[in-house]
Formats: sequence, C-alpha cells, structure tokens
Amino acid sequence: MNHIISPSMLSANFNNLGNDIEMINNSQADWFHIDVMDGVFVPNISFGFPIINHIKKIAKKPLDVHLMIVDPDKYIAEFKNVGADYLTVHIEACTHLHRTIQNIHTNGMKAGVSLNPHTPVELLSEIINDIDLVLLMSVNPGFGGQKFIENTFSKIEKLRKMADAKNKNLIIEIDGGVDNTNAEKLIKLGANALVAGNYIFKSENPTKTISNLKSLNF
Ligand code: DX5
Ligand code: ZN
Repeated sequence: MNHIISPSMLSANFNNLGNDIEMINNSQADWFHIDVMDGVFVPNISFGFPIINHIKKIAKKPLDVHLMIVDPDKYIAEFKNVGADYLTVHIEACTHLHRTIQNIHTNGMKAGVSLNPHTPVELLSEIINDIDLVLLMSVNPGFGGQKFIENTFSKIEKLRKMADAKNKNLIIEIDGGVDNTNAEKLIKLGANALVAGNYIFKSENPTKTISNLKSLNF
C-alpha cells in the first residue's frame, strides 16, 4: 500500500479555510487531519462540530479526526453526524477502550487509537486486532509546529512487528513535527500514514510539499 498523507487543518488559514480545503482536494493528499482539543486532555482548545461540518461539506477526501479530549464516548455519534470517517481516541483518555472502539465501529466509522510520546506501544497488544489505525504522537499533543521526538522511530519498529504478527491491515500514522528530514525514515520503518501541519501549510507551495511527501520511496 502506498502511504497516506493527511494534512493537519490546525495549521490551515482559518480566514480562508475554503481555499485550503480546495488546495487539499486538488492535491495528492489522501485525507484531512482534524485536531479536536478540549483544554482538559491537552493545554489548548481548537475547534469542534460546526467547523468540522463545514469542512465536510466541501471536502472530497475522508476526514481523519484526532480527538484530544477526555470522555470521547459522549460525542462519538455526533462526530459521525458531522462527517468523521476515521475517529481516533487517546489511549490515555479511555478507561474502557474496548467499549469505545466498539462504539466507534457501531457508529459506522473506522477506529483509531493514539498514544502520547511516553506511552509504550506494548499497551496495544490486546486491542490491536480490533482497531483500524494507530496514531503515534511524535510531539506532545496540543500544538502544531513542535519539534519531532526521535524516540518515535523505535516505537514504529516495535509496532510494525506487532502489526505484522497480529493485524496486517493496521494503519500506522505519525503525527507531529513530520517534515523532509524524517518522513522517509518513518515510512521505511513501517509507518504508512503521515500527518503534517506546519511543514505543509507554512511552505511556499503546499501542493508541491504534499506531492513531495507522497512520492517518497521506501
Ligand atoms: C498536535 C496535533 C497535530 C499537529 C501537527 O497536537 O495532533 O496534528 O497539528 O502539526 P505539525 O505537523 O505542525 O507538528
Ligand atoms: Zn493530530
């Protein structure tokens, strides 16, 4: 499978969001990465249902929604209503993760689990069969434009082995500080989806930056 590129809308221009959505529609990007922050699980607040609903109206690609919120179960049906295709929750925010995953699937979405940088991938061993995607945070969640944490590389290697043994269809997505200095290595080690915010939206030619990320060899 060719790797997936998921531009993070957190770094888009909210004064002209339609423009950035069209740019992604017409680019080689595969998904829209949508970061939802509640000011409790992470020290920042981003945006919620109305914005996602507006993105969905003109987006021509799946919405990859990353919830950085406590108690995500409360809102799963509403995220489906506003158009989420992939819904990813944080392992650190879910006491009954298995139930949460079931709930996401019952609502007709693909289910992802995200891990903070300090959370070992081994914690996924009993749930890896039940999920579609793992989102490894390569920065501490809450903000775009942070520096990539190098320890992510060894987490990818371990997770790739687990996935090869137990769930060959698992998508391994990397989020935070992804750019041209690490993207190729991430793919080589076994990641197959890359989120990028600042690297894409702060570049001179975002469409070209996306196609460069997409055409990496591995
Ligand atoms: C951080 C978010 C990321 C962020 C990535 O908490 O989950 O998706 O937007 O932005 P960059 O690529 O700029 O690190
Ligand atoms: Zn994210």
